[in-house]
Amino acid sequence: MKEKLNQIREKALKRLEETKNMDNLEALRVELLGKKGELTQILKAMGSLSKEERPIIGQYANEVRGQIEAKLEAVKADFAKKLKQEKLNAEKIDVTMPGKKKSIGHLHPMTKVIEDIKQIFIGMGYEIVEGPEVETAYYNFEALNIPKDHPARDEQDTFYVNGEGDFLLRTQTSPMQIRTMETHELPIKIIAPGRVYRSDEVDATHSPIFHQLEGMVIDKNITMGDLKGALAVFAKQLFGKDAKVRFRPHHFPFTEPSAEMDVSCFACGGKGCRVCKDSGWIEVLGCGMVHPEVLKRCNIDPEKYSGFAFGLGLERIAMQKYSISDLRLLYENDTRFLEQF
Ligand code: DAH
Repeated sequence: MKEKLNQIREKALKRLEETKNMDNLEALRVELLGKKGELTQILKAMGSLSKEERPIIGQYANEVRGQIEAKLEAVKADFAKKLKQEKLNAEKIDVTMPGKKKSIGHLHPMTKVIEDIKQIFIGMGYEIVEGPEVETAYYNFEALNIPKDHPARDEQDTFYVNGEGDFLLRTQTSPMQIRTMETHELPIKIIAPGRVYRSDEVDATHSPIFHQLEGMVIDKNITMGDLKGALAVFAKQLFGKDAKVRFRPHHFPFTEPSAEMDVSCFACGGKGCRVCKDSGWIEVLGCGMVHPEVLKRCNIDPEKYSGFAFGLGLERIAMQKYSISDLRLLYENDTRFLEQF
């Protein structure tokens, strides 16, 4: 009987030694120590032994069982340790690995120019107003003294939204003059930046969609001197303290008198270069005293109040400020271009 128990032990220990994983181990435990296992069978058969033999064999069988159980626990612990180590290895973090670099974008040059100009006017006490890009012909033309057959309508090739010509994409930010006079209390001091549309062919200096900024001041005793003073300060802030301005007579239907303002070339200081096409001056904006007819249409008495207005194209300013030779670059959003600003 002892011999048999020894065999059982040797076989069990050997099989435990060869077990490959936790699942196999559990199956083996059932097989070796379970009710149907050889060892249990022997213990059950003890009844047939003699009185003397019984305790000896019983004790020996229990010893064998203990040895098998101990081995089983040892193998189990071994597996657990291995599993833990594998898990730790899989989760290992290399703290010396370089981090992933996130590339951070920045403001588009157009946004920068618009923000810069807004800040200059905010500093001078102007309020920012915004209005619709889909306009009525009344606000975009009629109220601004541009009647139906006026040549200025042809100069600003218009995108009409409906066939009757009542609704259109605004060709200028000037309709904001009217909208502001209709809704604001006097005195008024506003700028209105925004997108405008003209059905132009795309080329290096034209785009069917571009940006303008309108400005307007209405109060008692506003003169052309106020206009010149305000715009000269603006030019110095935008182009540098040495910037000089000059005003050339011009015509706009909604201002009288009207002018165009040039600024001394910031690239050459006025000596003449490629940027200013050798003239020393760069054309920056249109301006003038708000036409009495325009004031009247907004129920403002031109005998009591006067005002000036101005409008500038923002792409032009951005192109000059950043020496951009082709307007299309501003809209293509090629990051190799945008990264430079
Ligand atoms: N709206 C004009 C344009 O698109 C620009 C302009 C000129 C605006 C004179 C004004 C102004 O307010 O007084 O060409």
